[in-house]
Amino acid sequence: MLKILKSDECKLAAEIIHSGGIVAFPTETVYGLGADAFNANAVARVYSEKGRPGDNPLILHIANAEDFNKLAHNPPKYASALIKAFWPGALTLVVQKSPDLPEWLGGHPMGKTATVGVRMCANPIANTFIKAAGIIAAPSANKAGRPSPTTLAHVIEDFGEADGIAAIDGGSTAVGLESTVVDITGKEPVILRHGAVTQEALRELVSLEKYTEATDTPRSPGMKYRHYAPRAEMTILSGTPENIASYVQKYATSTTIALVNKTIAPFLDASAITTLILGDNKEAIARNLFSYLRECDRLGAQRIFAQAVDTEGLGAAIMDRMTKAAEGRIIYV
Ligand code: TXA
Ligand code: MG
Repeated sequence: MLKILKSDECKLAAEIIHSGGIVAFPTETVYGLGADAFNANAVARVYSEKGRPGDNPLILHIANAEDFNKLAHNPPKYASALIKAFWPGALTLVVQKSPDLPEWLGGHPMGKTATVGVRMCANPIANTFIKAAGIIAAPSANKAGRPSPTTLAHVIEDFGEADGIAAIDGGSTAVGLESTVVDITGKEPVILRHGAVTQEALRELVSLEKYTEATDTPRSPGMKYRHYAPRAEMTILSGTPENIASYVQKYATSTTIALVNKTIAPFLDASAITTLILGDNKEAIARNLFSYLRECDRLGAQRIFAQAVDTEGLGAAIMDRMTKAAEGRIIYV
């Protein structure tokens, strides 16, 4: 059984890490499933508990800026501007790894990685825990393929039966979508995964190298796997609220759930169709998306229609997660 810790039990959580255990912890993005980054057995267990493929590296979570200097080898000059602007926060920097460190560090202990993904979180519980525990390797605290957890209840859903895992209760996460992953190994930074720090905010400081997943080999191995998927078949609907509403009305059955935003309310007969309102702005949609995907499973949905958002600001990350949850199905109405 998962052991639940209160938010003021970070010291106990750190002791669990020091004795080789695994601790799920809140960050401002989503919950992470953490192990001592230098403990090969504990890190291997994170991979196996999560069901994560061994070629997909883990983010190293730090609570002190000096730890970045220990982990990174010759970071580019622009790294300090990004760190100053966005740490602590929802930005993960992929950087060349210091040659003094174990070859596997940041990845699966049976493999080798030349780079490490490093993040300093803004959540105070995360920071108290990491300060006491040391550098923590952690993926999101969901079983592979499931939506990322934004509440303790989601962690319990996926790991409630697991022995030897603890979880710190930090309530609901503030952002609800994962960090932005930026590769800083080249002359210009490249966004590998859209996230809570928007490309517009990054561009105010640096120019970004253009990177298209379709033509380049994936540089962030995590991006090639099926992700965030509810059990139901999800389809994204893009178009005017009126057209989306009439499409939903036409094709929804009793086991369909519509994930929409408030713009659609005047056009949709909510008494006939199970409707979950994701929110009326992108921050709210980001916060609710993963939680509502899990809610669709709980309600026994077989089909989900999700209303698209534009890709400005947080919209890029929202559409990335929706597209993966829908395995690319999108209909323009
Ligand atoms: O907000 C977040 O980023 C959350 C919280 C817990 O920090 N973590 C998270 O971890 O979402 P995960 O493992 O679910 O996603 C990490 C992503 C994956 O796509 C992985 O491939 C990429 O970051 N990544 C990590 N280290 C990398 C590296 N050295 N090179 C390239 N990509 C890396
Ligand atoms: Mg994940």
